[in-house]
Amino acid sequence: MGSAVEGITIALSKGRIFEETLPLLASAGITPLENPETSRRLIIPTNREDTRVVVVRATDAPTYVQYGAADIGVAGKDVLIEHGGDGLYQPINLGIARCRMMVAVPAGFDYERAVRQGARLRVATKYLKIAREHFAAKGVHVDLIKLYGSMELAPLAGLADAIVDLVSTGNTLKANDLVAVEHIADISARLIVNQAALKLKRDRIVPILDALSKKEAP
Ligand code: ATP
Ligand code: PRP
Repeated sequence: MGSAVEGITIALSKGRIFEETLPLLASAGITPLENPETSRRLIIPTNREDTRVVVVRATDAPTYVQYGAADIGVAGKDVLIEHGGDGLYQPINLGIARCRMMVAVPAGFDYERAVRQGARLRVATKYLKIAREHFAAKGVHVDLIKLYGSMELAPLAGLADAIVDLVSTGNTLKANDLVAVEHIADISARLIVNQAALKLKRDRIVPILDALSKKEAP
């Protein structure tokens, strides 16, 4: 299906995934010839004539790979859990874009008490599936409110009691007087591979996997 039937197409999102994947691709002998931060082009050639990078939204990377529009890609575990992983082989934890999925609340809010009392919590998040499973496993009743970004604003604006979001340095929480109260999962980016492409283009994909698995996170 789709794209480079002859060559290899790699789906990457701009920003941290692209930047942190660059040295890994270099170890596989692949160097993109343009920087998506400065170029408006969405298809970027590489030093290898048979290999190109397509620039996608982080949340769209699994979709491109699932449908074979890209042969391989890089996506955060958060994105993969929400996507469901259909049609994807996930062979390598690249150990990049590391962060934690957390529950956070305003500094003055007694989360433990609210949970103990069986309060129904309004939780704002981009990660509905992760949040639903987390609170269901704890037996906490929640009304989930879907947002697409700036989750930290929701409790401050009175939209929600709590958020489920990614935390790395903790600076964003701190700047908004929020505190993390529960750790849901450790997150890092994974290499994803289209299952059909792996069979059909084995000779070209396996050397890339081999080079990247030498860099695999412990
Ligand atoms: P989209 O553009 O589709 O809305 P996004 O804004 O989450 O997605 P990025 O900010 O580029 O996209 O994040 C890409 C991935 O990096 C996320 O899926 C997550 O796995 C990881 N990530 C997100 N925030 C951080 C962070 N602060 N530190 C480290 N890794 C992060
Ligand atoms: C993510 C996440 C938090 C922030 C956490 O947002 O949704 O808002 O990073 O990182 P911190 O704990 O280091 O503050 P986003 O993808 O917008 O991150 P960015 O601000 O680095 O772009």
